[in-house]
Amino acid sequence: DGVIWLDGEMVPWREAKVHVLTHTLHYGLGCFEGVRAYNTAEGAAIFRMKDHTDRLFRSAHILNMKMPFSKDEINAAQLSAVRDNNLDEAYLRPMVFYGSEGMGLRADNLKAHVMVAAWEWPSYMAPEAKELGIKVRTSSYTRHHVNITMCKAKANGNYINSMLALQEAVSSGCEEALMLDNEGYVAEGSSENFFILRNGVLHTPELTSCLEGITRQTILDFAKELNIEVKERRITRDEVYVAEEAFFTGTAAEVLPVRELDGRVIGAGKRGPLTEKLQTMFFDAVK
Ligand code: PDD
Repeated sequence: DGVIWLDGEMVPWREAKVHVLTHTLHYGLGCFEGVRAYNTAEGAAIFRMKDHTDRLFRSAHILNMKMPFSKDEINAAQLSAVRDNNLDEAYLRPMVFYGSEGMGLRADNLKAHVMVAAWEWPSYMAPEAKELGIKVRTSSYTRHHVNITMCKAKANGNYINSMLALQEAVSSGCEEALMLDNEGYVAEGSSENFFILRNGVLHTPELTSCLEGITRQTILDFAKELNIEVKERRITRDEVYVAEEAFFTGTAAEVLPVRELDGRVIGAGKRGPLTEKLQTMFFDAVK
């Protein structure tokens, strides 16, 4: 039960439905955000909500979808979704989608709809994953960086490779996938950005092959505070094997250590000291 914000109205969870001819259901042309609210002394606080809303609007613009609400209205919708469901540790899913006004790829009478759902969601990772880190496999599915909508627009239809990559990783006993771009350089995880520490320098793929992650930016800001040199550059798969530390960042993933890639232990085979420091700074920042 609970309520979902749909096109400006709060709708009971069970009534928040769409028609089977919903255009985005068929063709994947839509965009979304993953946002988190954390419990703070002043109650639930949505972490970097404005940055997420800005990215949602950029995604819609790239997909040429006409947003029917303002940024203020979408921000207010997220606050209502958390408050009206009495949530404190929550995950929010704003999404922009085309309805059932028209079928077929050409359908030019389509109308963009917006929904915001929110549900109780404590920290994403099991405690041992947070301390020990996870096992990861390099995926056979590429993260196409030449397809611009992949990197800048968090578009629904662009998650097919991510989902198949994650399935592939899980079926080989790992917990996450590392995706390479179509030139074989490291891009990111199935739904998280990626960092390695090598010779004391923090490396992360440049933005041409990954989503402009908000958590990624938070970590880059922390690295600056710590006077750690950062390089946004092309990273090869074997550099990860010989890195001192590696970790994922994302709204769902938070700061998630990687202890092994493709059967190669990374560093000491558990969360490294810099990863731990950045995790601590992250959890202090969201509270
Ligand atoms: N997404 N890359 C991809 C492909 C993603 O889907 C996500 C997040 C990220 C991390 O971005 P950010 O730090 O802004 O969350 C990178 C899922 C939906 C999530 O974490 O909620």
